[in-house]
Amino acid sequence: MANGTTSGSAPAGGRMQELLGWVDARFPLTRMWEEQWGKYYAPKNLNNWYLFGSLSLFVLVLQIVSGIFLTMNYKPAAAEAFGSVEYIMRDVEWGWLLRYLHSTGASAFFLVVYLHMFRAMLYGSYRKPRELLWIVGMLIYLVLMGEAFFGYLLPWGNMSYWGAQVIVSLFGTLPVIGGGLVEWIRGDFYISDITLNRFFALHVIALPLVLVFLVAAHLLALHETGSNNPDGVEIKKKKDKDGNPLDGIHSHPYYTVKDLMGLAFFLVPFCAVVFFSPELGGLFLEAPNFEPANPMQTPEHIAPVWYFTPFYAMLRAVPAFFGTQVWGVLVMGGAIVLLFFLPWLDRSPVKSIRYRGPVYKVALALFVVWFVILGYCGLRPAVEPFKTLSVVGTIYYFAFFLLMPWYTRLDSYKPEPERVTYHAH
Ligand code: HEM
Repeated sequence: MANGTTSGSAPAGGRMQELLGWVDARFPLTRMWEEQWGKYYAPKNLNNWYLFGSLSLFVLVLQIVSGIFLTMNYKPAAAEAFGSVEYIMRDVEWGWLLRYLHSTGASAFFLVVYLHMFRAMLYGSYRKPRELLWIVGMLIYLVLMGEAFFGYLLPWGNMSYWGAQVIVSLFGTLPVIGGGLVEWIRGDFYISDITLNRFFALHVIALPLVLVFLVAAHLLALHETGSNNPDGVEIKKKKDKDGNPLDGIHSHPYYTVKDLMGLAFFLVPFCAVVFFSPELGGLFLEAPNFEPANPMQTPEHIAPVWYFTPFYAMLRAVPAFFGTQVWGVLVMGGAIVLLFFLPWLDRSPVKSIRYRGPVYKVALALFVVWFVILGYCGLRPAVEPFKTLSVVGTIYYFAFFLLMPWYTRLDSYKPEPERVTYHAH
């Protein structure tokens, strides 16, 4: 017992090392950890805008875990779905918590993803060499929208039913294929049990799989190019004698700790909503959804959940020409497609807002204002002044992107520094 252990074998830490060695000889566990996080060099000047990536990851996991437990008690059949959600809320142990985590998580997901995307617009993170990272991000955003849309039908409330009815029938405006396409999506002549069943399959397995795959691709792409930062300076350009970026620090423990702090700050308002106001005044859970789906009675005012409303306002901003809404649908689709081209629309010589001129700064600020106004208009009935505001907002949205190649080239700018700016706190 000279070495102080009870059995004379290696101490616990040593045994762990042995086990890790055994695994590493058969699977690149340590290598993966070090390459993707532990020894991944991130710029030392990342600010709080950089917390929303890890928060998106957290919410993704939360949605998957709470979703798995909800699925254990949910019934994907028109006759039973609404009742099974009530059962989860009232009878299943902790069922109310699971459901509110999941419904609040859906809104939180969009909130953090919108802020995450806005960060990219602040610092030009979509610019070369991160174009593909941005495109994968946009694919994630599209899948996320599909995921939220399919999930919204599942409680089989009246807004679930009529929301799905409105959105699915938009496909019917497409010439020639429209009618057939709508029937194919629904699997029936109306939103029925069959539609609910397939939306369930898409929501609980197909799209989450795609989402997880895309997020993995997103992170691999990020770690290939390396992170951008609030100065928009490429840290790989200045390396020390060992070939490591001079302005980089290991993600672990530095950003592990910072991300955990971000999570703690995020959980405060998140839990406040879950425990004290899960409906958030009808913004996160809409009142008509507390009534079962009724094909004979439309809710007084049909509106999607807040994260879709900027685009919904654009759809309604375009009047029906020649008796068809197809132009509105194209404008709405175009608004999302445009985002894919952002890396090539922006022609500024610098990436970060810190070194850009006044034109881009004002244009971006107005973009945020109009996007929020559009979102608000989409929540309200299509009456004045919301109709006019939606038209102006839609025009601004398109002008912001389509005129970008022109105004970003003309705008003044300050030269980027050689090294990142960093002040220790
Ligand atoms: C499930 C959704 C998503 C997850 C889990 C996720 C995760 C992450 C993480 C962990 C990072 C690194 C940390 C950070 O920069 O914040 C990151 C970076 C990035 N993401 Fe995402 N992301 C998601 C969605 C999106 C979307 C929708 C877009 C854009 C359309 C996007 C674009 C970017 C860009 C451009 C970067 C690099 C930022 C930089 O280095 O400055 N991501 N993402």
